[in-house]
Amino acid sequence: MITIEQLGKTFHTARGTSHTAIRDISLQVPDGQFVSILGPSGCGKSTLLYIVGGFEHATAGSVKVDGRVIDKPGPDRGPVFQEYALFPWKTVISNVAYGLREQGMAKAQAEEKAMSWLEKVKLRDYAHFYPRELSGGMRQRAAIARTLAYEPAILLMDEPFGALDAHTRIKLQTGLMGLWEQLKNTVLFVTHSVEEAVYLSDRVVVLSGTPGTVREIVDIDLPRPRVRAELLRCPKYQEYVIHLEQLLVGEVAA
Ligand SMILES: Nc1ncnc2c1ncn2[C@@H]1O[C@H](COP(=O)(O)OP(=O)(O)OP(=O)(O)O)[C@@H](O)[C@H]1O
Ligand SMILES: [Mg+2]
Repeated sequence: MITIEQLGKTFHTARGTSHTAIRDISLQVPDGQFVSILGPSGCGKSTLLYIVGGFEHATAGSVKVDGRVIDKPGPDRGPVFQEYALFPWKTVISNVAYGLREQGMAKAQAEEKAMSWLEKVKLRDYAHFYPRELSGGMRQRAAIARTLAYEPAILLMDEPFGALDAHTRIKLQTGLMGLWEQLKNTVLFVTHSVEEAVYLSDRVVVLSGTPGTVREIVDIDLPRPRVRAELLRCPKYQEYVIHLEQLLVGEVAA
């Protein structure tokens, strides 16, 4: 269980000014829940995820995982951040095996496990390629495999499909859903896409802008497994999308 209590972050810049990115965010995420975070650009979504990841420190409040205060990164929380992308000098399989090797797993075993994850994200044939030799969608799949391989209880995803074309994005959403339905880890997923948030999530948290704070939390009560083509025709799905879009449009306008 992730417990976020009255979390705040004020950045002090080199110019001597200060900027409050998030303020008074409280949220509880039970184990195994898929939670998306929506909000206008600059409202502090990445900041929130970095603090949960332990990459940034809060200036108010706290984040606890199973009662323990988070103050640094750990193998229980796996990031899929664009900034923490693949190592360009390592092959795909070495990238995926990296976290396992760090945990002390023998090379052969780590590579075997890495290969089984590459299979799951359909990159088996690209195991010995370098990241620069892959497409954007393939790179993103490799990054997801790298994080999932060490089995973090919590997955932190910051716009993992943001830079992809619509077709690749839909394929990866469906792929992620399939994996998650087996793994059932806790996911915090930042996105700008309302459809993506509704399709994937148990709950959607809408942040309001600057400083970011919780505007509304919407429970997505749609049965699983979800089939995208069916969902698009489902009136309840459409209502969620319309409601969230209206909230967001209001936020962006504000
Ligand atoms: N290291 C930093 N130093 C100073 N200010 C920062 C720093 N990181 C973020 N900020 C500020 O905090 C605010 C929130 O940034 P953040 O990246 O969390 O937004 P976001 O919601 O992820 O936006 P986007 O949707 O565009 O990715 C912004 O105003 C940004 O300028
Ligand atoms: Mg961001």
